[in-house]
Amino acid sequence: MPQPGGGMETIMKLWAGRTSGDIDQLADVLNSSIGIDSRMYRQDITGSIAHARMLGRQGIIPADCADSIVTGLEGILADIEAGKLAIDMTAEDIHTFVEQELTMRIGDAGKMLHTARSRNDQVALDTRMYVRDELRVLIAAAQEVIEVLCRLAEDNADKVMPGYTHLQRAQPILFSHQILAYAWMLKRDIGRMEDAIKRINISPIGSCALAGTTYDTDRRFEARELGFTDICLNSIDGVSDRDFCLETMSALAILQMHLSRFAEELILWTSWEFKFIELGDAYTTGSSIMPQKKNSDMAELVRGKTGRVYGDLNTLLVALKGLPLAYNKDMQEDKEATFDAIDTVKLCLKVMAGMLASMKVRGDSMLRAAQTGFINATDLADYLTKKGMPFRTAYKLCGEIVAECNAEGIILEDYPLERYKAKSELFDEDVYKEIDLNVCVAKRISEGGTSRGSVMKQIETLRRMTLLS
Ligand code: ARG
Repeated sequence: MPQPGGGMETIMKLWAGRTSGDIDQLADVLNSSIGIDSRMYRQDITGSIAHARMLGRQGIIPADCADSIVTGLEGILADIEAGKLAIDMTAEDIHTFVEQELTMRIGDAGKMLHTARSRNDQVALDTRMYVRDELRVLIAAAQEVIEVLCRLAEDNADKVMPGYTHLQRAQPILFSHQILAYAWMLKRDIGRMEDAIKRINISPIGSCALAGTTYDTDRRFEARELGFTDICLNSIDGVSDRDFCLETMSALAILQMHLSRFAEELILWTSWEFKFIELGDAYTTGSSIMPQKKNSDMAELVRGKTGRVYGDLNTLLVALKGLPLAYNKDMQEDKEATFDAIDTVKLCLKVMAGMLASMKVRGDSMLRAAQTGFINATDLADYLTKKGMPFRTAYKLCGEIVAECNAEGIILEDYPLERYKAKSELFDEDVYKEIDLNVCVAKRISEGGTSRGSVMKQIETLRRMTLLS
């Protein structure tokens, strides 16, 4: 770590001219962003290739210079990808590095590349392209989790478990129905990411420093070359907008919240208290002291990383809130937060996919849990209601039966028929069938309910939607 140099230890900069270009070493640490933005080298180079082509086509720079810029940039990209060129971590940022490397390789023509653009529109362009690429990877990763959930639901289609409200056993449901709830959440997360891409896909390049340019540029050509659907129509907005990072992080914060809720359930379900599932050894750890332990660390970390993703969103919201237009260096902080959220969510999605695929579902423990807790009491009340008793009266009467069973340590299935009949003449032998857990589940045929048919329909719909998106 350099010590405050008071101008003693200084570094010369690309923008030397108006100032000496000498910068204090510690100021350079604060100022430099190469450690964060070097990962955008591909987007930076691709963007610059499109820019050079545009400059050449428009006659803003000589065609042969444009060609040698393009060839030089292609060489730099190939060399970085092949591991032949290391990015110089003492450069100020990735844009500076690429331009300096180009000029070193092709000489004066390289100095023409920055005509009719600024690092302000360049960084906005690169970041949009990078986030767009990463969102596509995240969408695929979320789709993979959905597919794992569909497979798990198919393989465990008929396993009955207690459904919970207030973490109290509530009504019998299919395990497959419960886990598909998470598939629907992820489906909406994908929708939010796709929606974010629509607004990311507007090109800012050509906004220049803030006011546009005096050169006869063709912004739409550059935008098309780089796969954008449109260009921004206000150059000040073009260089100042970081909504797209916020929108991405908002979508990711919600997604991570979903993963966290799921992780919490996995943690509960692996406990001795539940024993509903067992996770593969590859996704658990042991204890350094307690030989019997198998801990769900990965699920805990997915839950724990959520705070970090929320923090990333908050970091940028706060950094932007008081900024006057247009570009301010504060905005350099956008990337660390955005990249961290992307990396974290991507890793968590991938680990979740593997962890869920490794999971064994213990139908016997789930059924045992479902058999206690009177989770068929609603069905008992519905039985009377369907025979003509007003629901509220049936509710009260069944509550009394539950209280008696609870006091005697028996379940509704064991309550004798004579006692049922003594409570209401509407009770008959068929009551036992109606409160059988499998029947309770099978009867919930309302659209989106927990019946097997509904689960199968969900799987089919989810898969069809995944193919479309
Ligand atoms: N590294 C800078 C960033 O990430 C690039 C833009 C620099 N622009 C400027 N006017 N200093 O924001």
